[in-house]
Amino acid sequence: MKPPRFAKAANAGLGRIEAATSLDTPGYAVETAMARPAQIAGSPAQRLGNALHGTWFGHPIHPMLVTLPLGSWTLAFGLDLLAALGFRTRATERTADTALRAGAAGAVAAAAAGMADWQHTNGRDRRVGTVHALVNGTALALHVASIALRGRGQLREGRMASAAGWACMVVGGYLGGHMVYRRRIGVDQADRSPEPRDFQPVLPLAELEENRPRRVEVWDGIERKTIGIVLVRQGARVHAMGARCSHMGGPLDQGWVLGGTLVCPWHGSRYDLETGWPVSGPSTCPQPRYAVRLQHGMVEIRRQQEPGDEVVTTARPAHAPMSAPDARLRQAPRDQAPQARKADEVLFEHHQLIRRLFETILATPGEDPQRRDLLRTLASELEIHEHVEDHIFYPAVHPVSEDVPIAHSEHRQLSDLLAETLKLNTASPEFEEHLRALYAAMDHHAGSEERSMFREAQRLGDARLRELGQALEEMLEDQRTSRARRAFRDLKIRLLEGF
Ligand code: FES
Ligand SMILES: [Fe+2]
Ligand SMILES: [Fe+2]
Repeated sequence: MKPPRFAKAANAGLGRIEAATSLDTPGYAVETAMARPAQIAGSPAQRLGNALHGTWFGHPIHPMLVTLPLGSWTLAFGLDLLAALGFRTRATERTADTALRAGAAGAVAAAAAGMADWQHTNGRDRRVGTVHALVNGTALALHVASIALRGRGQLREGRMASAAGWACMVVGGYLGGHMVYRRRIGVDQADRSPEPRDFQPVLPLAELEENRPRRVEVWDGIERKTIGIVLVRQGARVHAMGARCSHMGGPLDQGWVLGGTLVCPWHGSRYDLETGWPVSGPSTCPQPRYAVRLQHGMVEIRRQQEPGDEVVTTARPAHAPMSAPDARLRQAPRDQAPQARKADEVLFEHHQLIRRLFETILATPGEDPQRRDLLRTLASELEIHEHVEDHIFYPAVHPVSEDVPIAHSEHRQLSDLLAETLKLNTASPEFEEHLRALYAAMDHHAGSEERSMFREAQRLGDARLRELGQALEEMLEDQRTSRARRAFRDLKIRLLEGF
């Protein structure tokens, strides 16, 4: 399959800009010209810099400010188009003039914030940023010229100037989008792994020197990567935060302590040791924090919950919101629980049944009418499986597993693929191909539940897993035996097959 033509051409163009080393010398000259006065001015310039980065705001402000010229100049462009089509009144002309001025004011503010961020980029990112600034600067100049021309009564020329400026703005926006979405400039670069969820020993306290940042590592089994954490000892206290700087990934463990902050060696962001928040930019985003305790001379750390985190610690949060089925389950009589099988055992058995169904269909000849019946049974069992997981298991394991959101997406994938497969002739090669793809998708999904989510679910404790197991078995039974549910499911399968 050919790549989309526009995307390919744009990619080639962007590649050329990224490789244009001739932009480096003027780029660094501009940076130095900006840096010197700021260094001379000292802390007022630093405060201004923090405001322009968005450090006080907890978010870069450049992307918000650009909405002003984007919206205002697009409004003016639209009104000019209407005027060209004959819909022209004094009021629309005045509105267009005001929009042009508002856009120009917004563009100046956005440019100031953008320049403040740009000076901390390097290499290919800096080159794209330079072109982004030049193109947007041209857009601003054209709009200012348009305002002047309109003021002199040269409406036609004024409209042409702002139309050209609007086109420049679109190109500039494309380049800005490339920097954020592709090159990840301005996005949070810190490692936000939830590990370690329980206190984990990482270093003997004796090895930690006063005010000397020290890197330790923990393993994230789900992401399959090592997470760096920086420890700083201050007297009897030990602080711990993520070692990867949220600004651009600088190594904070190679930074230094200054006035109660840890300074990033790359661009000088200063993170408060107590809270992990940047008190000085360019960073706008707090570092991940870790709770620290000392046990038998060892420093132990545990990831601290952040607002918006799904779940971090293994301890079952007392305040965790209870979903409706979860609440029902808690009221289940406790004396019945020990006899029941555990939830993961029930689900594993059902996975195996579904796998066997796939094998049987694959082993059944294409022309055999039984193949269609078996496929319907498979569709039905898959739907039941997803139903019981979505209603009982996933809400229950949500507090102890990070896998639930992706599992929901995988369920959706499975049902999309199943719907496609049901429409095909069971004797056709397409059916064979789709069935194998569906089997692979199901096996991947069930396999990752077995390897990861079921293991994490053990944190809920044996009794709770048996309660859940019993509820799952009851719901499975009900789904299979209830006439109404069966009829509804069959109807759905027929509709998917297209009768
Ligand atoms: S990477 Fe830029 S301040 Fe840390
Ligand atoms: Fe599942
Ligand atoms: Fe499952």
